[in-house]
Amino acid sequence: MMNADCERILFTEEQLRGRVAEVAREVDGLYKGKRPLAVGILKGSIIFYSDFIRCLTVPVELDFMAVSSYGSGAVSSGKLKIKKDLDRDVRGRDVIIIEDIIDSGFTLANLKELLKERGAESVRIVTLLDKKGRRKYDISPDFNCFEVDDEFVVGYGLDYDEMYRSLPYIGILKRSVYEDRIFASADKNVV
Ligand code: IMP
Ligand code: MG
Repeated sequence: MMNADCERILFTEEQLRGRVAEVAREVDGLYKGKRPLAVGILKGSIIFYSDFIRCLTVPVELDFMAVSSYGSGAVSSGKLKIKKDLDRDVRGRDVIIIEDIIDSGFTLANLKELLKERGAESVRIVTLLDKKGRRKYDISPDFNCFEVDDEFVVGYGLDYDEMYRSLPYIGILKRSVYEDRIFASADKNVV
């Protein structure tokens, strides 16, 4: 049963499971003999993260960050604010950033830079979804599961105003759910 606030299902549970496992196998192959640090970006990545890491065969350490960007929504000129930092030191580590969706690219461009500045040996980005058409920063994921058009999607960890994260599929949210409210929150883009 689809949630009534969704217009349609974009990716089913089965599609997600299959593609996540496929990408995880590719990533796994790059880290043979290593012990990467899997950095999940809270909260949107949690479901993708937990499915993804369970498909890895290399030993992996888990860590999390919570960030938010403040600035004018359209231009994304704000700076990244760290709400929860990593527990582990990334110096000399092979880091895999795991994120739900890359939109303007602001979050991941800044995060990658930050982790490199902190001395990570390598930083790769794995995203569940890529809204390629909306990119404003020069950054692309090393691995992406699915490309999506410029539509607001929810489920499998992704939210609208903290709702719909627990849906097992990815759905397109009906415009009527957010069109009255999106402008009110445009200057506070909580990641
Ligand atoms: P960026 O910094 O502009 O790349 O934005 C990335 C963040 O925007 C993601 O981590 C999400 O939290 C949020 N986001 C962008 N598009 C969507 C969407 O369609 N649904 C839910 N969250 C989204
Ligand atoms: Mg997010």
